[in-house]
Amino acid sequence: MSTGPSFAPSEEQQLLISEVRRFSTEQILPGAAERDAAKRFPLRLLREMGEMGLLGMFVPEEYGGAGFDMVSYVMAVEEVSRADASVGVTMSVTNSVCCWPILEFGSDDLKARVLPELASGEELGGFGLTEPGAGSDAGGLRTTAVREGDHWILNGEKAWITNAGEAKYFVVVARTDPDAGNRGLTAFVVPSDVPGFSVGLAEHKLGLRSSLTAPLFFENCRVPAANLLGEEGQGFKIAMATLDHSRLGIAAQAVGIHQRALELARDYAREREQFGRPIADFQAIQFTLADIAVELEAARTLTRCAAAVAEAGSASGDAGRLASEAKLFASEAANRACQRSLQLHGGNGFHEDYEIARLYRDVRVTTIYEGTSEMQRLVIARRLLS
Ligand code: CAA
Repeated sequence: MSTGPSFAPSEEQQLLISEVRRFSTEQILPGAAERDAAKRFPLRLLREMGEMGLLGMFVPEEYGGAGFDMVSYVMAVEEVSRADASVGVTMSVTNSVCCWPILEFGSDDLKARVLPELASGEELGGFGLTEPGAGSDAGGLRTTAVREGDHWILNGEKAWITNAGEAKYFVVVARTDPDAGNRGLTAFVVPSDVPGFSVGLAEHKLGLRSSLTAPLFFENCRVPAANLLGEEGQGFKIAMATLDHSRLGIAAQAVGIHQRALELARDYAREREQFGRPIADFQAIQFTLADIAVELEAARTLTRCAAAVAEAGSASGDAGRLASEAKLFASEAANRACQRSLQLHGGNGFHEDYEIARLYRDVRVTTIYEGTSEMQRLVIARRLLS
């Protein structure tokens, strides 16, 4: 099915989309249902994606990356997520919340040590901000970091960490000044092999079951001082700037799921016969398809527009607001699309043998992680009013 003329890709982007679409359709999509049922992490596919440059998309060539722009990135995440949203989030997290802040705020030494391994797909990355008691209120986190000679000693717990168990590097935000509120937080790159670091049991999730999600524990965890990201006290701003950027990855993931929900609805409407003819002949079904399609184009266009603004850099702060708008709209639209597509499937949509059932479960988290819809509205409104 044509993806429509929205935000026409350049020749280079067109080539990238064709390559990623072919790989996603031939290699990722066929095993998605089986991996979901078995909760099996797609390590082999990720290695291949690393070789294609899909896990270090912003990382420049000097650090072994592919050096792509933001619009190319959202196009690639969309294609991968269309095939399997679990692979989409794994890709998005490594690129957006691990590689990007290291690239943006890391020292030259840190970038040279860490980025080549991530960009090649040899190792995966993660992000540790959320805690059991600090979700939407990210600044309320309690994990501590205390300086001891050439190391920082971390103690605490992180929750809902994507790629935990497989990732080698985590960008972790911890409290270094108990009395300084949001300004008392500092970011670190924590390798998974340092003493005092451990990963808890994988979460039993409603969707995205072949992606990894688990808690991280720090017990007198020793992180080299050279792994500090930015400066002491900048952790909250680094986390917020990272989320401004990474929310575009989740918007793109939602667009990919939305695209697939439309394809499944259209195919089912053509095949399924009731009252002696394909249900696609009925206007009620046609209107459903039209509604899914219109919101898809709107979500895709907003996501690519927000990515283009982020790429250009925006001194006015529009980039962060647009990223939140894209994430809010695309995730809510994709939820509506999966609901409509499932309804169009009738009783069969309620059966796990039909792909729409997995999409319906997978799409649910897109309005929650990397900031709930409510937090996106807060970010948007604050920027409008400031
Ligand atoms: N960029 C840079 N600085 C920023 C910023 C941004 N986007 N947003 C805020 N700041 C700065 C402010 O300027 C302010 O600075 P000063 O102290 O110098 O004045 C400081 O940070 C505090 O800002 P706020 O007063 O706005 O902070 P707040 O405590 O009210 O929180 C919030 C704002 C928007 C609610 C924020 O906490 C938030 O985004 N919460 C949602 C958390 C979230 O998205 N979590 C996702 C977890 S990651 C994940 O899900 C990954 C995954 O696995 C897929």
